[in-house]
Amino acid sequence: MSESSKLTIEQAEQDGKYMRRIRSFVKREGRLTKGQAASIEKCWPTMGLTHDMGMLNFEDVFGNNNDVVLEIGFGMGKSLVEMAKNNPHLNYIGIEVHKPGVGACLMDADAQGVTNLRLFEHDAVEILADCIPDGSLATLQLFFPDPWHKKRHHKRRIVQLEFAESLRSKLRIGGVFHMATDWENYAEHMLEVMSQAPGYENTSETNDYVPRPDHRPLTKFEQRGHRLGHGVWDLMFKRTA
Ligand SMILES: C[S@@+](CC[C@H](N)C(=O)[O-])C[C@H]1O[C@@H](n2cnc3c(N)ncnc32)[C@H](O)[C@@H]1O
Repeated sequence: MSESSKLTIEQAEQDGKYMRRIRSFVKREGRLTKGQAASIEKCWPTMGLTHDMGMLNFEDVFGNNNDVVLEIGFGMGKSLVEMAKNNPHLNYIGIEVHKPGVGACLMDADAQGVTNLRLFEHDAVEILADCIPDGSLATLQLFFPDPWHKKRHHKRRIVQLEFAESLRSKLRIGGVFHMATDWENYAEHMLEVMSQAPGYENTSETNDYVPRPDHRPLTKFEQRGHRLGHGVWDLMFKRTA
């Protein structure tokens, strides 16, 4: 980076822009399959949401007042589509930065005739801040987030105290933040962060993990984890204040 552009970024940081410099993902430019590209073209006009729409009105988006479940980092979207299909009385919003994942999810949703699902292709942290009204969500889902195995990368893990705080403001009181991971060290990290975060109650009877609820389908990453002999940890924290 040239000295002058470095100075410009430093100035922008001082001015309060680029506040969040550490991201939880590295954007992979994976190629779209023909099917994914065709599904984006066909379904995006009805199922796509964009950051520049600003703060959403869910009733306008879905045409009803049903409870809204938001999933961060849905990958290829298989389990998200399955949940949306199994729960037509709920509305689902998925956020993913990986375009082929968005295409795959739309293709699956279209094939399954799912209509209660909308997607963003964008950084979830920005969408939560700019597009999701406070106190509006019944459930937030974060399944198998990138574990960032190396200690020096732990700061990239999306579950941090500040993140927990921003999620809490989006949940309604009594709403639940549901996490799952197949990486034990990340499960411990989630438990530590969420136990410290104010305004949440752990729904676990043993004050740590919960059994996988039936409504969470097995994801691709989880199946892979099973094959590798990993355990899986589910955590559910309820907003109390
Ligand atoms: C390990 S994958 C798990 C995908 C899926 N939940 C599953 O279980 O199969 C994590 C996903 O989170 C996405 N991701 C990471 N940080 C994100 C962010 N800030 N906003 C949106 N998506 C994000 C990545 O692109 C990736 O697809």
